[in-house]
Amino acid sequence: MKLGIKITLSVALLSSLSFGGEQFAMSDADRAMYAEMSENNPADILIADGEELLGYMGGDAGLAKYLGVSEDDLPAYIAGFPRYIKKFNMVVGLDQVVQAMMHDGGHKPLKLKSGNMFAILSYIKSIANGEPINIDVDANPQMKAMYALGEKTFMTKRGGRGLSCNSCHSKDIVGSVLRTQPLPDLSNKGVAVAATWPAYRMTKSSLRTLQRRFQGCMKNALLKVIPIGSPEMVALEVYLTKKAEGTEIAIPGLKR
Ligand code: HEC
Repeated sequence: MKLGIKITLSVALLSSLSFGGEQFAMSDADRAMYAEMSENNPADILIADGEELLGYMGGDAGLAKYLGVSEDDLPAYIAGFPRYIKKFNMVVGLDQVVQAMMHDGGHKPLKLKSGNMFAILSYIKSIANGEPINIDVDANPQMKAMYALGEKTFMTKRGGRGLSCNSCHSKDIVGSVLRTQPLPDLSNKGVAVAATWPAYRMTKSSLRTLQRRFQGCMKNALLKVIPIGSPEMVALEVYLTKKAEGTEIAIPGLKR
């Protein structure tokens, strides 16, 4: 009996030590739920909905045709978004491609912020699962300009508290804890955050996209929220996707 108690105590001690600052971020119950959900990500069913919705537009084959690539090349092509697309004369995300496809097919395009759009976008990105991110920010002047705009948007201080994305997501501050949440370092090369979005957010009980996540930070940090699909948002996605270059896409992610 005595032995049992000793073991329980040392396990508790060990886990609180080994997680360091992160012990504040998740309770044991949350950690158990995280482990359970990693096995069985609730977003999988939403992604299946996304596949069905894309099916109304010709599925993978329809998408490949619309993008002017073969179905075999589709995964690698998807792993290079956001991209400059000549027929739009713009750098766009995959959700904007879907809107254009809907429009051209005579359908009313889904809103970029709608749950169905998040589902379709997530399904499409999951086609590239296992594919290394291959964004080329030097491919053309448009991509170069978007990368520069993304960096500027990331670094520019705004809002009532004069914060930039970098104020909370730079190397200098990594490991610090804000209101019990450890700050993830997004400024670092090799940070693969873009490979794990869209993701299921446990605290929101829903499937979210990268740009939707940016909006969450803008709201929390009192920065004016920029609309999804606007040049600054696509540029931020370009900027952070570049940092994840070479990382294999693994959709859906699972986040706190
Ligand atoms: C006031 C500090 C603060 C500011 C400013 C801020 N963030 Fe965050 N951000 C956080 C915290 C804290 C988390 C982690 C929250 C969590 O785990 O729930 C986070 C998480 C993220 C994530 C998810 C990381 C992951 O692990 O997938 C992204 C992406 C992100 N922020 C982007 C941005 C962008 C882009 C901006 C600027 C528009 C920004 N953030 C501004 C504090 C901030």
